[in-house]
Amino acid sequence: MKISAISIFWVVLLFTAGLVAGDNSEESRVFHGDDNNGKNVVNNRKNFWPWDEDNYCFPLWPFSDCSKPDEPLPIPALPPPSTLPIPPIPLLSPPSLPPLLPSIPSGLIFADLRLAVVYPIIQNFKNIITSDPLGITKTWVGSDICRYKGFFCDKPPNNSTAISVASIDFNGFGLSATTLEGFLDQLPDLALFHANSNFFSGTLSSNIAKLPYLYELDLSNNRFTGPFPLAVIGMESLSFLDIRFNQFSGSIPPAIFTQNLNVLFLNDNNFVSALPQLLGTTHILYLTLANNKFTGPLPRDIAKALSALTQVLLMNNQLTGCLPYELGFLNEVTVFDISHNKLTGPLPFSLACMERVSLLDLSANLLDGMVPDIICQLPNLVKISLSDNYFTQVGPYCRNLINIGILDITNNCIPGLPSQRSLFDCAPFFAQPRICPYMETYTIIPCKPNFIH
Ligand SMILES: *[C@@H]1O[C@H](CO)[C@@H](O)[C@H](O)[C@H]1NC(C)=O
Ligand SMILES: *[C@@H]1O[C@H](CO)[C@@H](O)[C@H](O)[C@H]1NC(C)=O
Repeated sequence: MKISAISIFWVVLLFTAGLVAGDNSEESRVFHGDDNNGKNVVNNRKNFWPWDEDNYCFPLWPFSDCSKPDEPLPIPALPPPSTLPIPPIPLLSPPSLPPLLPSIPSGLIFADLRLAVVYPIIQNFKNIITSDPLGITKTWVGSDICRYKGFFCDKPPNNSTAISVASIDFNGFGLSATTLEGFLDQLPDLALFHANSNFFSGTLSSNIAKLPYLYELDLSNNRFTGPFPLAVIGMESLSFLDIRFNQFSGSIPPAIFTQNLNVLFLNDNNFVSALPQLLGTTHILYLTLANNKFTGPLPRDIAKALSALTQVLLMNNQLTGCLPYELGFLNEVTVFDISHNKLTGPLPFSLACMERVSLLDLSANLLDGMVPDIICQLPNLVKISLSDNYFTQVGPYCRNLINIGILDITNNCIPGLPSQRSLFDCAPFFAQPRICPYMETYTIIPCKPNFIH
């Protein structure tokens, strides 16, 4: 019994670690969503426009005879496409000239004007890539953009006879560039941009707000700096935002929580702000803010705002204040981890309403008082950690969970239990009075209104 409980613990622990780690393990890829969470939908679609040069004809160039699609195009008369040099873009345009825009190259035949338009944009981006360990950009030559490594084409939503770059997947390519400006923001039909584990840096251009179809933006595990990319605020199409494992800093605009996102991964950056106290309403299912420097209390309206949340990962921040009883309204949550913060006060009985929770980690805070035994009766608990706090009392259900290895409550102040803090540790803590607001709410169990304490 003990062994199986411990192994379940490790499975859950590794699972959670992978979730936050942003590595390329199988578990984390699920949470990157490459398989299950709606990501790569376009990539996985099998209805990419089939590339068949002869079927496409572009009346833009004199040598294309669109009336006779079966006749071979006079390609041999042209210079080989890949040798066409791209004129370098000067750093500063002479003031007397209009701004230098990438020009559509002559001599290449594109399946669609949309591809011709993005060709110079891609080539300009290729020129600023300073490192390409896998030789990806070697494939970025010629007019067949849909076969460039990392690029995927599809029909744009507003024209079913056209073909355009719909998706970019640079995950794990290890590319280095000091900016995505002039590239990402200039691909008008882009729906997905996945660039996990590259070395892209700089700040994010506000022009991405003009991409009407972008719904998944994954910039995780890069070198981005600067403030939260405000451009994503108000992007109606966006449903997946993953900027974890970068060096973004400053505060989080509260408006991001009211946006129509399903997934918001902000963990492992340098965000410092207090969590917004009024979150509004959102559709966020996955919220990870872990490993930042968030301060202040948990928002009281967290559950009203985020009732659909299934994962709440707030560990390793500097959150303070008491736990709001409203946490009990997070009845869809399966993983709730607020460990390694500075949260104080007792546990609200309402935690007993997190009926789906399997991992509940409140360890390494400044929590105290009795552990409501009803929390230890949650039906789906696999692991609950209350260690490294100042709890003083546990009831029979909790003691049973300790015995079978599900509850870790070491390093508290519970008389008679092994591995507790010393009196020297406990006494000074309790010498300071600690008061939480709304004390009368702590025994309310919203899902069991008739519960008798
Ligand atoms: C389709 O959408 C693109 C990108 O927003 C836009 O430039 C183009 O004008 C639209 N075309 C039509 C036919 O609506
Ligand atoms: C759709 O795209 C095709 C190919 O680019 C183009 O010929 C056609 O005019 C477009 N239709 C509209 C309504 O814009």
